[in-house]
Amino acid sequence: MPAPNKRVTTLDLLAWKREGRKIVALTAYDALFARLVDEAGVDVVLVGDSVNTVLAGQPTTLSATVEQMIYHARMVRAGVERALLIVDMPFMSYQVSIEEAKRNVGRVMQASGAHGVKLEGGAQVAETVRAIVDIGVPVMGHVGFTPQSVHALGGARVQGRGAGAADRVLADARALEQAGAFSMVLELMPNDVAAKVTEAVAIPTIGIGSGAHCDGQVLVLHDMLGLNDRFQAKFVKAYATLADDVRRAVETFGTEVRNGTYPDAGHSFEQ
Ligand code: KIV
Repeated sequence: MPAPNKRVTTLDLLAWKREGRKIVALTAYDALFARLVDEAGVDVVLVGDSVNTVLAGQPTTLSATVEQMIYHARMVRAGVERALLIVDMPFMSYQVSIEEAKRNVGRVMQASGAHGVKLEGGAQVAETVRAIVDIGVPVMGHVGFTPQSVHALGGARVQGRGAGAADRVLADARALEQAGAFSMVLELMPNDVAAKVTEAVAIPTIGIGSGAHCDGQVLVLHDMLGLNDRFQAKFVKAYATLADDVRRAVETFGTEVRNGTYPDAGHSFEQ
């Protein structure tokens, strides 16, 4: 375990995989939550493009923009002292050409102060991953269910079921490792497929909806806090019920304002 103030690096994650120490990752989109998760000892904070659905209320991540990711990543950077900070590259910021991908990654890194970026896709983005790694930026991959391809995949469905599909996930993971990715997210795949990938690659796998055999786990913070209570998925475990707490607190505030019990003497000033 690193000293509390030592910044987590990509090399730490690689070492922890070798040592069998699990990696803890969560999303954050602002400085306040980033500080709370950092203080609670999370190893990797991800500014996910899920911000576009969770906070911005959009139906998918597809309309997230580079500017939006920079805006949230700057806030998160202000709250994080220890965790490794990774930012999602949004849809169409890295798919058009390698030149454009490098320019967009450069903008995100310079403007946000993040420590690396995450790209979705396997073999088809391997060349782009290599080019980004070659300019000195750590890349986290993301295979299995890739939300930016939600329409092509027919919805948020488990990927890698059946021998052929499992082999494709494995080939994608190997392509990312060969391209120089320092880790990868495995999203929505059967336990045995995630275990096989985790075994096959030397870089850490961070699972979401992919069982316990991954080298680490990531969840969307607002889901695991029970804040985003309209989103229900089998893999999400709510460790708190903050949506209920918020509604209850706001209702009580409303009642007290309306009946005149707030503000009382303890919450106001005398001459
Ligand atoms: O956008 C996101 O939050 C993600 C994680 C859930 C892996 O990609």
